[in-house]
Amino acid sequence: MNNLKSPRPVIQVSGIRKTYGRTVAIDEVSFEVNDGEIFGLIGPNGAGKTTTMECIEGIRTLDRGTISVLGLDPFRQVYKLQDRIGVQLQQAQLQKRIKVWEAIDLWASLYKKKPADAERLLDQLGLADKRDAWFMNLSGGQKQRLFIALALINDPEVVFLDELTTGLDPQARRAIWDLVRGIRERGKTVFLTTHLMEEAERLCDRVAIIERGRIIDIDTPQRLVDRHCPERTVVLATDDLTAEERFRAIPRIESLERSDMQFTIRGRGEDLVTEVIHCLSENRMRVTDFRMIVPNLEDVFLKLTGHSIRD
Ligand SMILES: Nc1ncnc2c1ncn2[C@@H]1O[C@H](COP(=O)(O)OP(=O)(O)OP(=O)(O)O)[C@@H](O)[C@H]1O
Ligand SMILES: [Mg+2]
Repeated sequence: MNNLKSPRPVIQVSGIRKTYGRTVAIDEVSFEVNDGEIFGLIGPNGAGKTTTMECIEGIRTLDRGTISVLGLDPFRQVYKLQDRIGVQLQQAQLQKRIKVWEAIDLWASLYKKKPADAERLLDQLGLADKRDAWFMNLSGGQKQRLFIALALINDPEVVFLDELTTGLDPQARRAIWDLVRGIRERGKTVFLTTHLMEEAERLCDRVAIIERGRIIDIDTPQRLVDRHCPERTVVLATDDLTAEERFRAIPRIESLERSDMQFTIRGRGEDLVTEVIHCLSENRMRVTDFRMIVPNLEDVFLKLTGHSIRD
């Protein structure tokens, strides 16, 4: 992350619109992606994520607006740009009987510049022992890792990953997240799309939420949660007879529910939890259960759109 340096945008998208016949896929989409960050475009199926990404890659023409990637116009200067970016397409496929090393070789031959060290890349992506395997015999996670390898073969400055972990099990997904973090560690910028809120939350430095072709908000996951969902809830159990009275005295509390020994305390702002803990310890209350409910990006999406991202 480049938090200490002033951010340098490597992707600048300004007021873009793209229609397919009568369908307005995206409209008035604007954002910037900074050098060295993992930026995620998140939204439900059909929101316009792939369309936005493909416009930035120079694969699609715009109806309106401008895009600059590494100072280039992605559509007019697509050949210049291709050497400097790496692309993994959603639902990419390869021939069944192409071997891992053949795919790598083929991809490397497509670029003018000297390819990255392929053996090292395969090693880093945990594919070294699969170099002679056919594509069709790779597991889902291995196929995705191969696509990452192909996206990195030209040692690009910006890497585009479209729904990289869809269809993978949680363990394979986590392994891929580590690889993507590794790409950032090597100083590259990552632009990715996902409809998995957990993925965005754990992986992305900043996210843009897109729905029905429009960006609703952009920020770090933490700031989005703080801004849109400041509610905090603490659920605890205590047999202390003075508990109810003491909890009511906490300044930040907005509501207090009680059922037997269990209390549900609601309020706003991250200090609520600290204040509850402080109250418990100051009054030496015995607690037999303590949970807190902290909202996440999923809740932000629900709040902003009125529906869950999976609907
Ligand atoms: N080539 C095309 N021709 C016509 N309509 C298209 C085309 N590509 C996309 N669309 C439409 O544009 C809208 C945005 O599609 P897009 O593929 O960008 O969404 P997405 O957010 O990537 O969705 P998903 O999560 O399913 O990948 C959808 O309504 C889709 O049906
Ligand atoms: Mg898509």
